[in-house]
Amino acid sequence: MSKLPIITAPDPRLKKRAAPVGTVDAEVRQLMDDMLETMYAAPGIGLAANQVGVLQRVIVLDLSRDDEPPRPLRMADPELVWVAEEDAGYEEGCLSLPEHYAEVVRPAAILVRYLDETGAQRELEADGLLATCIQHEIDHLDGVLFVDHISALKRNMILRKLLKSKKAAELPAYSETSFAA
Ligand code: NI
Repeated sequence: MSKLPIITAPDPRLKKRAAPVGTVDAEVRQLMDDMLETMYAAPGIGLAANQVGVLQRVIVLDLSRDDEPPRPLRMADPELVWVAEEDAGYEEGCLSLPEHYAEVVRPAAILVRYLDETGAQRELEADGLLATCIQHEIDHLDGVLFVDHISALKRNMILRKLLKSKKAAELPAYSETSFAA
């Protein structure tokens, strides 16, 4: 397994729709494992392939707490086949928008159909944080970020801050007029 670099917004790869994998082969399985390692190291509870620059419909999740054994979920070509009429709001964050959070309202329960790491088709009913997290990750595969669900004012504020810190990170350690120490 190997850890992959996580892309942060703004970046065009986060706005693209990822393509279905169709079948789960050794390459897809490797991607799933690398993404899990990347997610655990971050640390995070979910990761979509777009976030590591791979435009394939693959997501991984693990909502187990620190004192519980890991419960990794590997999903290829996930699709929502049912969503509840009731909504739930959660304070969401994202490894691609580090240190920014906002409340997002989504359907409170879902039924997701996907291919697991063996290529078998599965269905999973989820509510609570898992339902939110799966929807957040499927959004990534469609080029949608959690900030796309909030007001334009708040979204632009977050994206401007991220762009600023990205530019600051790209500056040389010092120049004639400034330095970073
Ligand atoms: Ni995210």
